[in-house]
Amino acid sequence: MSVNSTAANAAAPLFEPFANEKLKLDNRIVMAPMTRGFSPNGVPGPDVAGYYRRRAENGVGLLITEGTVINHPVAAADRNVPHFYGEAALEGWARVVREVHEAGGKIIPQIWHVGTARQREKFPESDAAPIGPSGLSLTGDKVSEPLTTEEIRGLVQGYAQAAADAKRIGFDGVEIHGAHGYLIDQFFWETTNKRTDEYGGDRVGRTRFAVEVIEAVRAAVGPDFPIVFRFSQWKPVDYGAKLAPTPEALAAFLAPLAAAGVDVFHCSTRRFWEPEFEGSDLNLAGWTKQLTGKPTITVGSVGLDSEFTSLFAEGKGGQTASLEALIERFARGEFDLVAVGRALLNDPAWAKKVREGRTEELQAFEREALASLS
Ligand SMILES: Cc1cc2nc3c(=O)[nH]c(=O)nc-3n(C[C@H](O)[C@H](O)[C@H](O)COP(=O)(O)O)c2cc1C
Repeated sequence: MSVNSTAANAAAPLFEPFANEKLKLDNRIVMAPMTRGFSPNGVPGPDVAGYYRRRAENGVGLLITEGTVINHPVAAADRNVPHFYGEAALEGWARVVREVHEAGGKIIPQIWHVGTARQREKFPESDAAPIGPSGLSLTGDKVSEPLTTEEIRGLVQGYAQAAADAKRIGFDGVEIHGAHGYLIDQFFWETTNKRTDEYGGDRVGRTRFAVEVIEAVRAAVGPDFPIVFRFSQWKPVDYGAKLAPTPEALAAFLAPLAAAGVDVFHCSTRRFWEPEFEGSDLNLAGWTKQLTGKPTITVGSVGLDSEFTSLFAEGKGGQTASLEALIERFARGEFDLVAVGRALLNDPAWAKKVREGRTEELQAFEREALASLS
């Protein structure tokens, strides 16, 4: 267990503390939210608490939980995804928080509704239809009727209740899942939002649902509780999708979200090194930081050298090359925090090894890592 001081020095910037008025973190490494499906009947058990605690013990600055669904009958895509409502599930989450805090870590839940991405066949006992702004799947198929205004208001309250519960049971903030083609993103995306009322229309009009969610969450948690908002240009059915094709469009899209009360933007990309727009090296987190003035989290294939081709794609070794590129961008101030997904799923001690320069001990991501909560 030798410490390689050259490699450790190179990584040192990522291990500087982060502090603003609301959020104080020991370092810049964030565990990316990753659905694991190990919560029978939606209740996270002691094994889930242990899974997060191990990452906290090994020096991850901020843990973002797997997506955990708000209180709505069709919020989950799949079984065994943790709920964020009901006494048993919230008790399970309180235990997660306790264990992470005991290990010196910080943790926020990612609150989630899948919209029309619900996989109906996984719930044969229910005839409830999935919901979405226009009742359209990501491929544009009609799966249900468009949401009514009253239903939309109920959903907004569902997010607010989850955020209030997050604060009540001791989480350090909350992340709203606005990415990857799920409910909030279905409002953002023109393919899935064909509404002509105040929740539809142009790019800014399509932010209205998210704005109401953020405002309701802010009202529920008060001014000092950190709200992280995750968004992505890409969709699972279209990696080339762009909610905002230019910096001007991105500025217009982000301004209402920032004004509604977002503290940190989590900019989901598949590869952190890819420039978001022509004519500049900046990635999505870089542009978002510049356009909103808010701190940002970058993400995408950190510690992996193969691309993020599907949620379950296999990454392979070569960690140091992409780490160097990451540190270079970080040192330029392009973004503030770095989320790590598969590398941390694979190896609970990933952050500690990087911090200590033990790069030769980093292991390639293996698909088998998905099969258990190690
Ligand atoms: C198994 C798995 C589950 C995921 N579940 C979620 C999720 O619940 N919410 C989310 O926003 N992103 C989810 N993602 C995306 C990750 O947060 C992350 O953005 C992506 O894996 C890219 O980071 P990486 O290359 O470091 O793995 C998931 C990814 C994986 C591999």
